[in-house]
Amino acid sequence: MLDRLETIRTEALEALEAAQKKGREAIEELRVKVTGRKGELTSILKSIGTLPSDQRPLVGQLANKYKKEIESAIKKALESLEESGGSVCISGFDPTLPGRRLPSGTLHPVTKVMDEICAIFNRMGFSVAQGPEIELDFYNFEALNIPPDHPARDMQDTFYIDEKVLLRTHTSPIQIRTMEKIQPPLRIIAPGKVYRCDSDVTHTPMFHQVEGLMVDTNVSFADLKGILTHFIHEIFSSGTGVRFRPSFFPFTEPSAEVDIQCVICGGNGCRVCSQTGWLEVLGAGLVHPAVFRHVGYDTEKYSGFAFGLGIERITMLKYGIDDLRLFFDNDIRFLTQFK
Ligand code: PHE
Repeated sequence: MLDRLETIRTEALEALEAAQKKGREAIEELRVKVTGRKGELTSILKSIGTLPSDQRPLVGQLANKYKKEIESAIKKALESLEESGGSVCISGFDPTLPGRRLPSGTLHPVTKVMDEICAIFNRMGFSVAQGPEIELDFYNFEALNIPPDHPARDMQDTFYIDEKVLLRTHTSPIQIRTMEKIQPPLRIIAPGKVYRCDSDVTHTPMFHQVEGLMVDTNVSFADLKGILTHFIHEIFSSGTGVRFRPSFFPFTEPSAEVDIQCVICGGNGCRVCSQTGWLEVLGAGLVHPAVFRHVGYDTEKYSGFAFGLGIERITMLKYGIDDLRLFFDNDIRFLTQFK
């Protein structure tokens, strides 16, 4: 009889644990089965009178003790169910709890600025063009008037795949590919990745550029200046000072580099602008006639301008980011700041 009591107790407590996961009804069912009027424990207590007299006290004591224990466990189980608002946990899953929100992703700052640059030029009638990242030497260099012995082809700068195939070192080959396909007038903008065999604190082997090209009759340097100045005022702020400095690119003549007034110190001179008050942001110029000849454009009839800018650089200046490596670490704490 004592063994029987022991079993009833263990089984009841185990069953209670399971019943708690199912809910109030299951617990009630268990209560009826064990301590109810016709329950297992109750019938033992009722039958005590039929036991030999020497067993009665012990069995009675134990049965009463277990009955109390089980009753209070049931009470506790019901209370804790009450506390959880009656919500039921089925095998660890509670369908009534509110869902957990997954954090949403964010656009990379470089992507954001690239989109913004394209949007500004879209508004000025430029449409987006694209070209391959694995490029022919012809498009990357030769057609852009860069002869075979030009320093830009130096093995140190270019990732060659074989003698004629390479990773594009700039987005300018898209100029050639576009002009091969369409006749003027044209206005395109070409964003993309470019590659150079260069890696230190201010250079990464892959970075992003946006190329621009406009060809029409009577396109002049004044058009180039107007469009680029407007662009800089849109992407930074309308008061930003802009200056054009004479420069050299084999595929433009005349060529210029475009500086903006330092966005960090406002032109007073600081560490970022090396105390000059100016920051270089763009390369540009009027399309060289040799480039037009490569694509069969009439150099007497048409003229055009081209420009190229580094997106990482613009992004750093726009958001005051002082370390290029942050763009490529993919640290979520950095990236989520650009929501
Ligand atoms: N492709 C040049 C560079 O990567 C930039 C440029 C583009 C300059 C178009 C002039 C015209 O430095």
